[in-house]
Amino acid sequence: MADGLQYRAAVFCARSVVGLKELGRTLGGALKETIAARPFLLLALDGELGAGKTTLAAATLAALGVRSRVTSPTYGLVHAHSFGLGGPGRKVEVLHVDLYRLRHTAELDELGLEDGVQSTPAAAGQVLLVEWFENARGRLGRPDLAFRLMHSQRGRLVKLRPHSAPGDRILRVLRGAAHRDLQLLS
Ligand SMILES: Nc1ncnc2c1ncn2[C@@H]1O[C@H](COP(=O)(O)OP(=O)(O)O)[C@@H](O)[C@H]1O
Ligand SMILES: [Mg+2]
Repeated sequence: MADGLQYRAAVFCARSVVGLKELGRTLGGALKETIAARPFLLLALDGELGAGKTTLAAATLAALGVRSRVTSPTYGLVHAHSFGLGGPGRKVEVLHVDLYRLRHTAELDELGLEDGVQSTPAAAGQVLLVEWFENARGRLGRPDLAFRLMHSQRGRLVKLRPHSAPGDRILRVLRGAAHRDLQLLS
């Protein structure tokens, strides 16, 4: 997955919720494009409470056109969704994970996420969106693309760092996101 190469990072300023949602919308489109070539994608969403991780994830899921909302019985840390790529059996699983309440990294075993990280399941692909990724303390491997969201006087800052070629490709698409309330700072 992550190849250890250095990729160019980026910083956005989302001046409003709408601006941040636009980033999520663009991310959904980029994931759809990328998932065929790379059937497993791991995205990390970190940043303090209220920074906008869930807002970004929800906008991404909406853009992917997820059709299910299944709450995992496992502490509610994992919400499983899926979307179709068109064509029979071409379904991609999207796991929206929130590790805020993770107490020990051993709990990750019960969530079954590590299996997914190592091997793509029978579905056409799997996307993992993990809030509070840092709580996994490296147990989920390196993300393809890491987001860090921060409060700022101008709204929210979103720092993005790719760790793989697909992550880098996704970020290049994101750089093209255009909205009045979403500014690419670097
Ligand atoms: N520019 C902005 N971008 C994102 N959220 C914002 C912004 N300005 C205000 N907010 C508010 O901040 C909150 C973000 O909450 P949420 O997405 O649940 O954060 P997290 O998942 O990081 O705890 C929401 O209530 C949202 O309305
Ligand atoms: Mg959240």
